[in-house]
Amino acid sequence: MRAYDLIMKTRRGEPLTGAEIRFLVSGCVSGDIPDYQLSAWLMAVCFQSLTPAETLELTLAMRDSGDRMDLSGIHGTTADKHSTGGVGDKTTLILAPVVAACGGYVPKMSGRGLGHTGGTIDKLESIPGFSTAIPYDRFIDTVNRAGCAVVAQSGHLVPADKKLYALRDLTATVDSIPLICASIMSKKLAMGADCILLDVKTGSGAFMKTEQEAVQLGEAMVRTAKLAGKRCRAVVTDMDMPLGSAVGNAIEVAEAISVLQGQRHTALGKLSLTLAAHMLTMCGRGTLEQCLAAAEQAVDSGTALERFAWMLQCQGGDPAVAEHPERLPQPANSLTVTADRAGYLTRIASEEIGLAAMELGAGRRKAEDVLDPTAGLKLHCAVGDPVTPGMPLATLYATGVTDFSAAAVRVRGAMPIGEAQPRVQPLLRQVI
Ligand code: URA
Repeated sequence: MRAYDLIMKTRRGEPLTGAEIRFLVSGCVSGDIPDYQLSAWLMAVCFQSLTPAETLELTLAMRDSGDRMDLSGIHGTTADKHSTGGVGDKTTLILAPVVAACGGYVPKMSGRGLGHTGGTIDKLESIPGFSTAIPYDRFIDTVNRAGCAVVAQSGHLVPADKKLYALRDLTATVDSIPLICASIMSKKLAMGADCILLDVKTGSGAFMKTEQEAVQLGEAMVRTAKLAGKRCRAVVTDMDMPLGSAVGNAIEVAEAISVLQGQRHTALGKLSLTLAAHMLTMCGRGTLEQCLAAAEQAVDSGTALERFAWMLQCQGGDPAVAEHPERLPQPANSLTVTADRAGYLTRIASEEIGLAAMELGAGRRKAEDVLDPTAGLKLHCAVGDPVTPGMPLATLYATGVTDFSAAAVRVRGAMPIGEAQPRVQPLLRQVI
């Protein structure tokens, strides 16, 4: 078999066999197929797409390119969740202990953020002492004891994705639905949970700018997971504006704790508990309505917060943070951006808000950048709110930065004030 012929086949829109796809993936990992041929094939996929059967074969070949997590030591049905990435998305920190408190088990492997979207691992690492690099036995033990654990992605899982993603990033071949599907689902399948919930973001701050594209990606991922023998659902949710009012690391942990402490009627709280309910219903814990009621009860009774504290303790973090989020690192400097005119807040541009948080030190420009756990911002208004001159729109925080002027300009531009009150779109758009 020659990579050249396979590139030509895909370029002409002729489907590859499973053996041909496995040849490409194994050649990618071994280094036998050079980057220029892999890149050419990726570009051919961007133009011609892949059939569902090819997408499944690519996903499985990538899943099998490295280690697979063994979750057989966990004492019940396991549920995993993946978000395609967004600004202010801290739902994992809420739903994992909620699902745990309702009898599910959440063994979660998460990523670090790069660019304008923050990573769950970065958020958790702002908790004093918390380790996201615990050994395998301790990970399984934490899931059994607390019901949930979150660790950083291991380099031994899906090495093919590491290589292919790096090439895609450099060759303008990221935004292809079969490639995104295979990249995400190979990692989810290698992780091995019984049930997978996918939160596909749509809007200005997301990969998928339109709802239609998000639905197509959701459908491709659910189809692939089911063909691979998993229970899987996808929800399409809005990322035109940040999720919740906090963007950063410690500040997002504090907001997640506020939901676990009982503030579940916010948009963030409602979405997080709905996601938890979908995970629980896939785990066989009842209908969606019953699971939502159980999730709400887990927050109201304090059992979800207790699970969160146990997870912190098992992973070396300060468990008192669950009751006292003021123990999280606090910023030395702040600046409040105010409204300069009367009207309605017409939008909160996620990507710009994410970039402002990154400039303050909450995100990375390059993979090796060191984050400031205290950096970020708090939004004081929601889209559609009436505002008057001088009203606070957002407060910017950092310790490593004292000059907030560039970030303040960005935030002001991201929060335009208009005369007409805008219609606010629902957060949850579709369930697939
Ligand atoms: N996230 C991934 O893990 N892979 C992609 O291709 C896109 C988003």
